[in-house]
Amino acid sequence: MAQQDGGHLENIRFGQGDTVVILDQTRLPNETVYLTLSTAQQMYDAIARLQVRGAPAIGIFAAYALAALAGGIGAADFDGFYDGLRALGAYLDSARPTAANLHRMVTRMLDTARRHGGEPLESVRSALRGEARAIRAEDIDMCRRISEFGLGLLHDGDGVLTHCNAGPLATSRYGTGQGPFYLAKERGINLHVYCDETRPLLQGARLTSYELQQAGVPCTLICDNMASLVMKQGKVQACMVGCDRVALNGDAANKIGTSGVAVLAQYYGIPFYVLGPSTTIDFACETGDDIVIEQRDPAEIREMFYREPMALPEVDCFNPAFDVTDHTLITGIVTERGICRAPYRESFQKLFPEHFAAAEH
Ligand code: MRU
Repeated sequence: MAQQDGGHLENIRFGQGDTVVILDQTRLPNETVYLTLSTAQQMYDAIARLQVRGAPAIGIFAAYALAALAGGIGAADFDGFYDGLRALGAYLDSARPTAANLHRMVTRMLDTARRHGGEPLESVRSALRGEARAIRAEDIDMCRRISEFGLGLLHDGDGVLTHCNAGPLATSRYGTGQGPFYLAKERGINLHVYCDETRPLLQGARLTSYELQQAGVPCTLICDNMASLVMKQGKVQACMVGCDRVALNGDAANKIGTSGVAVLAQYYGIPFYVLGPSTTIDFACETGDDIVIEQRDPAEIREMFYREPMALPEVDCFNPAFDVTDHTLITGIVTERGICRAPYRESFQKLFPEHFAAAEH
């Protein structure tokens, strides 16, 4: 049975002892299965296999995982404990390269441990659990704010096209790229969402259309190659997507296929919005050329989700998990502090001056 968090599906939580419980996103929508993870290997695999996925969610999960694993670090003093924690953090961080949130939250947990370095190890462990919960609570708040700003860009009766999954499962609550749709539903604003199925891993079909359907948001699932047609038919007034890493110039990495949607939107004169928390903006990354794109197993293209393989095993496959949408195709980047517009660097600087302060002095 689905476990609820105040009426919301709970995707990440602490379990008994030093464990983390996640909703296995690879089994949705047909089965609601919770996994109890206790080892570093299980936690690494959960990220790598996308049992937990979505940029904010893997950041939150890494924080919970480190807090849980900290219970098993048997060191005599803080230095030994910290070395163990740092090694575990590096291991989890190496599970996926593209989303900024994973590295950022691992770093934040290590910083937390150092801040409590002079205290007994039990206090450090307890501080790490508190920090993980704080990271999740902050994400809930950011998603809510992003959803408010995003909803302000839409009108009653609009059709909105989205790609991949950037809803509650990919975050904590509401979501980013899809958060405005849930808020609209709560407020009686009528939207119709077109969900790209999102080949090859079908996050749009398996997760987004599932979440929207469960919430009673009107939606239509389309194959990725139908986006142009629905836009041409006038069914789409805006596109909204999430993001995995945003560069200072506004280039935004998101699920493979996102940049194609942006190109189509520009052709048809439809605004294209990227929605994401500041934890996804990489303030040290100048342009999208600096973003590492994860390459995944070709089997995901050839055979996964098919009853039988759809290509010969020897067929060469190219399977990048993400692409970068050029900033010139993006109408606005919606953050928890407001909507950034080109030139993005200046816009980020205005809303997030604290991330630029160090570089200026
Ligand atoms: O490979 P995934 O499923 O983790 O990719 C997820 C996406 O691309 C999402 O759109 C992105 O992480 C934003 S989640 C709020």
